[in-house]
Formats: sequence, structure tokens, C-alpha cells
Amino acid sequence: MRLKTQLVVAVLSGIAATAAGAATPQETIKLHQRALAATCANCHGTEGRTTDGSAIPSLAGMPRDYMVTQMKAFREGTRPATVMHQITKGLTNQQIESVSTYFSSLKR
Ligand code: HEC
Repeated sequence: MRLKTQLVVAVLSGIAATAAGAATPQETIKLHQRALAATCANCHGTEGRTTDGSAIPSLAGMPRDYMVTQMKAFREGTRPATVMHQITKGLTNQQIESVSTYFSSLKR
């Protein structure tokens, strides 16, 4: 009886997963990018857009290579910062490249 219930649950959740559509690798990458980008929103604004006159720069539409270079410079301490040196310390090269690709793809 118990086994049967478990089997039904397993089959049903399988159907639910199929109906929801399993994420493709491309979609998974996008989700990771957006999750990481969301951690920047407190300071750099939703989708990397700060309000006019903000002291913090917008990230949306920033050239990818420039952004990668700046983030690595913060991490290595070659570009002075108030907070970005701490934030970038927790990021791998791959995460820096991924989040830069994401913001560069957004409209300014
Ligand atoms: C706690 C607030 C805060 C958070 C969170 C934050 N930033 Fe920043 N960011 C700043 C500030 C402030 C500066 C200006 C440099 C400094 O003083 O650290 C800056 C500068 C930058 C710059 C340089 C922009 C330029 O014009 O050269 C980049 C790139 C950047 N941040 C990317 C990010 C990314 C990507 C994230 C998320 C992973 C992020 N920041 C999260 C506050 C923040």
C-alpha cells in the first residue's frame, strides 16, 4: 500500500516536471546569471539601472570586457573601492564573466 502511494507520487511528480518543462542548459545558465545579478540590485538598481543622479553607476548595457576588467581590479585591489572589493572577493572568474555577459546584454 505504502509502496503504491510512493509510486503514484513519483509518477505524478514526473508528469508535473514534464508539464512544467525541464530547463534546458541554456535556461539554467540564464537562471544562474539572473540570480547573481539580483544580488547587485540593492545598490545598482533593478536590472542594473540606477535612478538619475545616483552616485552608484548603472550596470545595464555596460560593455562586457570593461566590466570584467573592473570587477577583477576590485578583487585584486588595484582599483580602490568602498564596497566592491568585498563583493568581488566572493566571486569566481566564471561568475564575474557570467554576470558581465548578463548586464552587457541589457539595454541601458
Ligand atoms: C552594497 C552595494 C553594492 C552592491 C551589492 C554591488 N555594488 Fe557594484 N558598486 C557599488 C559602489 C559603491 C561602486 C563604486 C565603487 C566602490 O566604491 O566600491 C560600485 C561599482 C561597480 C562597478 C564599476 C562601475 C564603473 O563604472 O566602473 C561595477 C562593474 C560593479 N559595481 C558591479 C557590481 C556587480 C556585478 C554586483 C553584483 C554581483 C555589484 N556591483 C554589487 C556598490 C555595490
